[in-house]
Amino acid sequence: MKDFKYYAPTWVEFGRNAEEKVGALVKRFGGTRVLLHYGGQSAVRSGLIDRVENSLKEAGIAYVKLGGVVPNPRVSMVRRGIALCKQENIDFLLAVGGGSVIDSCKAISAGRYYQGDVWDLYLRRGEATRFMPLGCVLTIPAAGSEMSDGSVITNEEGNLKKDYGSDEFRCKFAVMNPELTYTLPAWQTACGVTDMMMHTMERYFSKDDDMEVTDAVAEAILRTCMTEGRKVLDHPTDYNSRAQIMWAGSLAHNDLTGCGTSGDWATHCLEHELSGMFDVSHGAGLAAIWGSWARYTRGENMSRFARFAHNVMGVDTSGMSTEEAAEAGIQAMERFYTSIGMPTNLHDLVGRDVTDAEIEEMADKCSDGDTKTVGVLRVLHRADMAAIYRNAR
Ligand code: NZQ
Ligand code: ZN
Repeated sequence: MKDFKYYAPTWVEFGRNAEEKVGALVKRFGGTRVLLHYGGQSAVRSGLIDRVENSLKEAGIAYVKLGGVVPNPRVSMVRRGIALCKQENIDFLLAVGGGSVIDSCKAISAGRYYQGDVWDLYLRRGEATRFMPLGCVLTIPAAGSEMSDGSVITNEEGNLKKDYGSDEFRCKFAVMNPELTYTLPAWQTACGVTDMMMHTMERYFSKDDDMEVTDAVAEAILRTCMTEGRKVLDHPTDYNSRAQIMWAGSLAHNDLTGCGTSGDWATHCLEHELSGMFDVSHGAGLAAIWGSWARYTRGENMSRFARFAHNVMGVDTSGMSTEEAAEAGIQAMERFYTSIGMPTNLHDLVGRDVTDAEIEEMADKCSDGDTKTVGVLRVLHRADMAAIYRNAR
């Protein structure tokens, strides 16, 4: 088992009506003037924003609202948020929404005291040294941003999607009421299930084979996501299944499943180019590219893919060679994606054929002009990235 650090400082308030505690939680973590940041319309339409405002008022917390964050959140909105924080003397950021809203808050947090433009941080041309504290009310289990140290932002000039991370990005608190997810469209629920599974799989498919406790946790999360994911799609208001999925999403990305392993993350890097270029949902992009990545890299640790087939996908691998078992597991995963409405190739993801020029551009961006590799299980260079995109067509 590899040496590791584990830091998961987020206070989790989980259960029915948990959002009523948000004012008290802001106070507990030192906020007095809040930027209430949210998305397009779902949280307004459901009345959640009203309830959050009431809770803030009851706790005597002043606030300013900034809605309109879109999926694949834009740096232009982040800049507006930073300006508002300066103008209004904001001392705490409250995200009400999913990964996009939380990530927008994280970027505002890092950019508020940074001397240059916030996008420099995402280009790794600068380092944030002072951050604003943030908390969240989660409305979609998916990205895991409520407990993660990462943030992913899109610059609409050039369709560039980049990440930036810091332990200071860990939310002070995360309010999670599974009932808030009843209104999720089936597509968003399925994208979320796919994303949280991939956060687990990115850490599971490694060259390491000696972290049994971590593997066992990862396999349980993956099986739960599939069983409960199917249930919530059939019964969107099943509290217990929504609750399992919501907690699984946080456990999948608070680094628990990374203890003692070396995460790969190539599928995520390849996907960020897809959602950057085509503005598709992150979860759907992951499903579309994963099979191609898996077939390209499985030779580096075939027995791990065979273990996945048996322990996670429930394939009867007796009598199969290791390679046959590995392939059976990949096919079973793709069948699961199809069963929940996810695409398993780029054509179905984008709705048309992806061109050679688009593939070359994505490989170029993903490799920073052939200067950077991604992946650990198999280190991928620009040509490998292009091959994986091509095989996924
Ligand atoms: O904007 P509204 O109207 O709220 O609609 C949202 C949005 O259209 C809707 N939605 C959210 N909660 C809802 C709801 N609709 C009905 N009822 C509800 N309760 O869902 C749509 C998607 O929301 P979004 O926040 O974009 O989804 P998600 O949580 O999947 O976040 C995706 C973003 O997170 C990044 C992705 O790249 C993508 O930009 N990621 C962030 C990570 C992190 N910070 O650690 C890790 C991930 O790997 C990921 O890359
Ligand atoms: Zn993800």
